[in-house]
Parts: sequence; structure tokens; C-alpha cells
Amino acid sequence: MARLRFLAPLLFALALIAGATPATLHAAEATSLDVASPDGKIVATFTLDDAGRPSYQVAYGERQVVRPSRLGFRLKDARPLEAGLRVAHTSRRSVDETWEQPWGEARRVRNHFNELKVELSETGDQARRFNVVWRVFDDGLGFRFEWPEQQRLGAFEILDELTEFALAPDDQAWSIPAFYVHRYEYLHRKGPLSALGAVHTPLTVEAKNGLYVSVHEAALVDYAAMTLQTHGDGVLRADLVPWSDGVKVKARTPFVSPWRTLQIAATPGELITSRLILNLNESSRIADTSWIKPGKYVGIWWGMHLGIWTWGSGPTHGATTERTRSYIDFAAKHGLSGVLVEGWNVGWDGNWIENADQFSFTQPYPDYDLEGLARYAASKGVTLVGHHETSYGIANYERQLEDAFALLERLGIKAVKTGYVDNLAPRFELHHGQYMVRHFQKVVETAARHRVMVDVHEPIKDTGERRTWPNMMTREGARGMEYNAWSADGGNPPEHEAVLAFTRLLSGPFDYTPGIFDLTLKSAKRPAPRPGEVHARVKSTLAKSLANYVVIYSPLHMAADLIENYEGQPAFKFIEQVPTDWDETRVLNGVIGDFVTIARKDRKSDDWYVGSVGDEYARTFDVALSFLDPGRAYVAEIYADAFSADWETRPSDITISQRPVDGATVLTLRLAPGGGQAIRIRPAR
Ligand code: NOJ
Repeated sequence: MARLRFLAPLLFALALIAGATPATLHAAEATSLDVASPDGKIVATFTLDDAGRPSYQVAYGERQVVRPSRLGFRLKDARPLEAGLRVAHTSRRSVDETWEQPWGEARRVRNHFNELKVELSETGDQARRFNVVWRVFDDGLGFRFEWPEQQRLGAFEILDELTEFALAPDDQAWSIPAFYVHRYEYLHRKGPLSALGAVHTPLTVEAKNGLYVSVHEAALVDYAAMTLQTHGDGVLRADLVPWSDGVKVKARTPFVSPWRTLQIAATPGELITSRLILNLNESSRIADTSWIKPGKYVGIWWGMHLGIWTWGSGPTHGATTERTRSYIDFAAKHGLSGVLVEGWNVGWDGNWIENADQFSFTQPYPDYDLEGLARYAASKGVTLVGHHETSYGIANYERQLEDAFALLERLGIKAVKTGYVDNLAPRFELHHGQYMVRHFQKVVETAARHRVMVDVHEPIKDTGERRTWPNMMTREGARGMEYNAWSADGGNPPEHEAVLAFTRLLSGPFDYTPGIFDLTLKSAKRPAPRPGEVHARVKSTLAKSLANYVVIYSPLHMAADLIENYEGQPAFKFIEQVPTDWDETRVLNGVIGDFVTIARKDRKSDDWYVGSVGDEYARTFDVALSFLDPGRAYVAEIYADAFSADWETRPSDITISQRPVDGATVLTLRLAPGGGQAIRIRPAR
């Protein structure tokens, strides 16, 4: 509701006396507009002060979530858009609809919000216009900027987006640093907002007022990624990743920014079940999605990280025809749908990280019969998963993009994993800037034309694009399993997954490449660690390795170990059976960084799966199975840490058991240090 302050009539009278134009009159009108969530709990207030400066604040019931925070833009060779504005027009609407995901962590998604569109105009005769659109949901809000087509603003360059999120300085946040070389591949640190520095989103905040807040963005399609900066005051300031010339965003009207999002919850688990980011993306641009199929895959990959095989040609080349055939046979035998083969293509010899332009995306190595293997895989109901390591040679990749995807399509290869490793200083444009955002968009759209699903390693963060482009499946955009093969710090700590579930995973699916059974890496061939370093390993129990398939959502999940490490392992049955496409998701408990338990219902059956992962401490808790159909009899197949299990000393000790359960059952779960539990619950016959 517009609350034109009492000052307005007085100013109007004064303006008439002074002979001012209506435009200058408006500049002096302080304006405040509220928009509330459908349940009334969350209220966003947009304000223009009497100098025409825009700002906003957010409340959740009686609690303040965002203190008054600035909005606006600094532009190149033009006046900033941050003051001297007036409200030219406002409009409101409400939407309550439910849409279906072609695949996902939940089939049905309710999109229920109140919208306020504030059309702003500068005062004076050179007036430029832009809008701020607010959508407030029961689980948070999003706002975005729109620059309509207009005479006084055509092409323009944003030097700075001035958006702030003023939380409280002593709120605690789980963050990874921005502007570091390894993109999103850092361990989250917990600390007060006042001590944050530059960080990526999603940023998860445990607020002093008891609420949990995730600051992120949605629909990043032609803009620079937003990082956040604090300077000791707890105010998070948008800091867009620049182009090499220092400009942040190159735009031409009509133009829109991504949504700036705040998910707000009373419990950390509600952040996981919030679908706000997806709701703020456009609906699908792919009409027929029948070719897009979640699944599980094995791959010729871990052997390279263990030092057994090489990507490049030579006596230990991993991607040979014979080995690929055996991986295809294994996938077919165990009902897995794909086989990833890294190092299949010419370009890996020598220093491929430095010489990105040597990669071909169409020419296989001579010992890799690409066409024959694609046919063989198809004959077994399996698809090869193509691999495009660009090594950040973007121009080289873009030159070959069309041919590379046409080849995948011709050979019936239904998925590709792309990679952008570059351990050096970025060669030209920064990883998260608008140039790379555009590149990723180009790849996804090219892939869609050729009916190929995409899994990106070293991606741009997920902002929900999978709603619009459902072939954008998953991303390995965090410290994944590979760090447990070679990271000099010894690998991911036992709490890693219990942190990721409430941080990185809020943005979307994560291809963690789980399922290593050889937890101490007996299969690895590696030199002794250097002084001050330790050999990496998987700091997990076997039961937790299974639980990750449920806790970490990804429509494409890998069984990442060497296939021989699965032979004769009863626990592998869980990986065979666990789905990667869900009807619904419930979070049963969780403390960020300590533990989390998630239940998901299979889309294709009445089976439920429960995954629980902990940190370095043993812990026991009860879990009620009240999500099961009332009165129906089920059998729980339980993969639990044995009493002797401990990630450090006896990681493989697992107890596999069955018991009847129903909706009234309360299960007691005991997690070992570094442990977890995985449960399949199927209707009793
Ligand atoms: C670096 C990635 O981190 C790794 O997973 C991949 O196997 C290699 N690039 C080769 O693409």
C-alpha cells in the first residue's frame, strides 16, 4: 500500500507557490510502499527518501531481517541511477499456481507470491526510467531491476550495482571466499558477517534473531555474477564480477537483472525445501523434455585422480576401447545409465592446462573407438557421457561448439560433462563475469538444440536455470570427491556434506561424484606426501558414502570408484536402487555443519529413501517415519554404521539389516564418527 507521507500536500502547495514543475515536485516526495508475503509474515518495504534515493527493508513478523539498505547503479559515462528518482507508476498482482518439474527434488512446485512493480523515473527533462520488481513469497523474496526500452537509455554499462543487504554485524554466516583462483572449491567457514570479506552466494546466515537466511540470486543469464563484500558493519554489498575493462555489466534496453534473493526460514531445513530460486526463473523453453533423463553413471575418471591412468595417450591411457567396454558392461549389469570417459579426445598430451587451444572436441585418440563404443553402449541400453575439458580455452571451445554437440547427437550420446579447470590467473575474462555467464548460456542452449544433457565442472553457480533449460542437469561447483584423492590438506573434513546441504546445495544440484568404497585409497599410486602435507583419503564411513546419494541432490549421480571396488560388495545394492529423481523431499532434522537427515520419495514407485550424514562426532537420534502412508506396511532396508565403525579407524564396517516399519515407527539412528545411514523403505509385499 502506498503510504505517501503527510508531507505531500504541503510540498505540493509549496511547489505551486514556487512555480516548480510537477517533476521536481515528485523528487521531494518521500514514498514508502509495502508488499507482504501471502501469509503476511514477510514484509518488504521499498522507500524513496525526499532526495529520491531508493532503499528497502525486510521484516519477518516482529523481527527485522534487513535493515534499511541502499539500491541503485553507477553507470559508465552517465549520471548514476541512485537519487533524484520518483515513483512514476506502481502495479500489483498475486500469483498462486503449481507447476511440475520434468525432473527434480520434488515433482510439484507451488509458486505463490505477491508482486509489486515500482516504475521509477528520474526527475527533470533528461529522465531515464527503470523499475524495481518485488516478489514476496512465504519463504522469502526476490527483487530485480528492469530497464524498459526508452529514448534516453539505449546501450549502457554498469560500473557498480549498489544493492545492499544490511543484516546484523554479529549474525553468523557460512561462506566461501570470492575472487580466489579455485572458483567455488573451498571449505565453508563460519564467522560473523562483520569479518566476512568478499564471498560467493548462496551465503547462509544464522541470524541473531533466530532466523536462517540465504542470500543468493536467481536467473543469472546475461549479467555478472554477484559476490558480496562486507566492511565490518554487517552490511553485505553486491560486488559484481567485472569484465577485463572494469565494467561490470554491458547492457542494452530492454534489459533485466537477475533476481536478488533472500530465503528466510525459521529452521535450517526449510531453506532446503524452499523452491524460491526455481520459481524466479522462467518456465521451460524446451517443449519436449522426454529425452532428458536423470540417472547414474560410472566413469573412467577416478583412476586418473588416483594416479593409475592418464588422460593423455601412452601406456597407461585410461580411455581405451577395451576399458570403456568393460565399464559399459558394468553399467548395463547394474542398471546404471551412463559411462563418463575422460581423456577420450586429442589434446591431453603435454601441459593441457597451459595449452587449452590444443583440445579437439571431435577427434578421439587412436586407441578409443568412439563410434564403435557409442554403438556398443546403445546396444546395452547405456549412454556414453561425453567429456569436454576446455581448460578455460573458451574461444577454442566456442569455435568447435556446434560440431562437438552435433557429433554427440549423431552418436546418440545423451549427456556431456564439461570442465573449465584453470589453476593459473584467469587468462582474459574472469570466471564469474558476464562474459562467462553468456558462455555457459550458449553451451546449454547449443546442447538443448542437440538434445544433450549438461553436467558442468567448474561452473558458474546455479541460480535455477534448470527450470528454463531442463537439460542443465547438475554442476560440480564445490569441493567435490576429487579433493579426497589429492588435496594436500588431506581431503574434505567429515562435516563437509552436513555443511553443503545448507549452503551450496541451496542453489541447486551438485555432482559430488560420491560412492567411493575404497575409502583409504588402497588403489592409489602416489608418491609419499611432501613435508607439511598429508595423503588425502575419504573421511567417511561406507554407510555415509551411501547416505550422500539421498542427502546431496543431483539428477545425475556418479558411482565414482573404480568398478572393481564394487565387486562383491553388498552395500553396492543401495547405489543400484537409489533413484535420482524424486516426487517429494522432506528434511527430518539438521544442524548446519553437524548433521542432517533427509527423506525423499521416488518418482516412479512408492519407495522412500532416507539419508543421514553427520560430522566427526558420533551421535544418536530418533527419526519418525510419519511421512509414510498411514496404515500401510513397509520394509526398511537399513545400511548403518556398525558399532565398530569410525571414519578414521574402521570406515568400512557396515551393518545391513531389514525390519518392518510403518508411519507410526520411530527409528533410532546411530551415526559413527564421520558416519551416516542410508535407508530404503519399500511397501511390504
Ligand atoms: C579438473 C577437474 O577437477 C577434474 O575432475 C577433471 O577430471 C579434470 N579437470 C579433467 O577434466
